[in-house]
Amino acid sequence: MTGVETATIRPMSKTLPLIDDIHIPQMGFGTWALKDAKQATLHALQTGYRHLDTADYYHNHIEVGQAMQASGLPRGEIVLVTKLYGHTLEPKNVGPAVDRFLKELDTDYIDLLLIHWLSGIPAEDSLAAMEQARAAGKVRALGVSNFEVDDMQAALATGLPVCNNQIEYNLEERTDDVSEFCLANGVTVTAYSPVKVSGRAETRKLVALLAKAYDSTAEQITLAWLMAKGFIVIPRSNNPKHIESNFRSLELTLKKEDVAALDAST
Ligand SMILES: NC(=O)c1ccc[n+]([C@@H]2O[C@H](COP(=O)([O-])OP(=O)(O)OC[C@H]3O[C@@H](n4cnc5c(N)ncnc54)[C@H](OP(=O)(O)O)[C@@H]3O)[C@@H](O)[C@H]2O)c1
Repeated sequence: MTGVETATIRPMSKTLPLIDDIHIPQMGFGTWALKDAKQATLHALQTGYRHLDTADYYHNHIEVGQAMQASGLPRGEIVLVTKLYGHTLEPKNVGPAVDRFLKELDTDYIDLLLIHWLSGIPAEDSLAAMEQARAAGKVRALGVSNFEVDDMQAALATGLPVCNNQIEYNLEERTDDVSEFCLANGVTVTAYSPVKVSGRAETRKLVALLAKAYDSTAEQITLAWLMAKGFIVIPRSNNPKHIESNFRSLELTLKKEDVAALDAST
């Protein structure tokens, strides 16, 4: 472990390729259960976030759309992710749901559309319907969420361009089997609930030590660790100071041995 002088600045706009010429910022803003989704999302955009994570299930499409409009940013600068769940995953319901999302979000297209979680409807059927929305230009890329390795194998076997799996991954929850499978198969991984604190005292102690060494916060160490492992992160916050400090974790590059120490601290 070394001191703050080893940290280097990396570009704030760091992105990962999804499919074709579509890239996604590695740092996104999570919007689940925000107290004021419009205000928090607007603050995130003003801070520099250019990737927003929402879902039909969060019931905040309208507020997220209003924040995008209020930001004054060109639509093309923002990567917008949303998710289908429940009956909207029925193939006949996918198209109408996408049209509703576009209205609610006040936009012409969704950058990345995910299956939020499997609920009895075969993924291949939902994905085929989602692909039609992609062909129609209403969606730019397709993905999934909460998929295990066997679910991913089935999704990839469709031959459809599934390019992202959004899963819980944090200091406490290490879903390495599925994340390793995805990364090995060219599927990007988004870590949700990324700032969750580990329940393990030893891990918390290590994070506190690293935070001191890098002159940063525990949350910044956690986010920098996830990004060093190649994950996309989508921290959520109601607090403007947290929104800003989480974003500044992009400026933090952990030394390899510190990443390895966090990896080993399960
Ligand atoms: N696909 C799925 O099934 C799924 C499931 C869960 C979540 N998600 C997505 O992932 C996003 C993030 O996950 P999450 O909302 O579960 O958890 P999270 O972002 O890991 O944690 C959010 C909590 O951490 C606090 N926090 C954030 N930054 C902080 C900081 N710098 N210092 C101290 N506390 C901080 C927040 O409180 P304050 O508001 O006080 O800052 C909030 O209580 C969600 O918003 C959603 O977009 C997806």
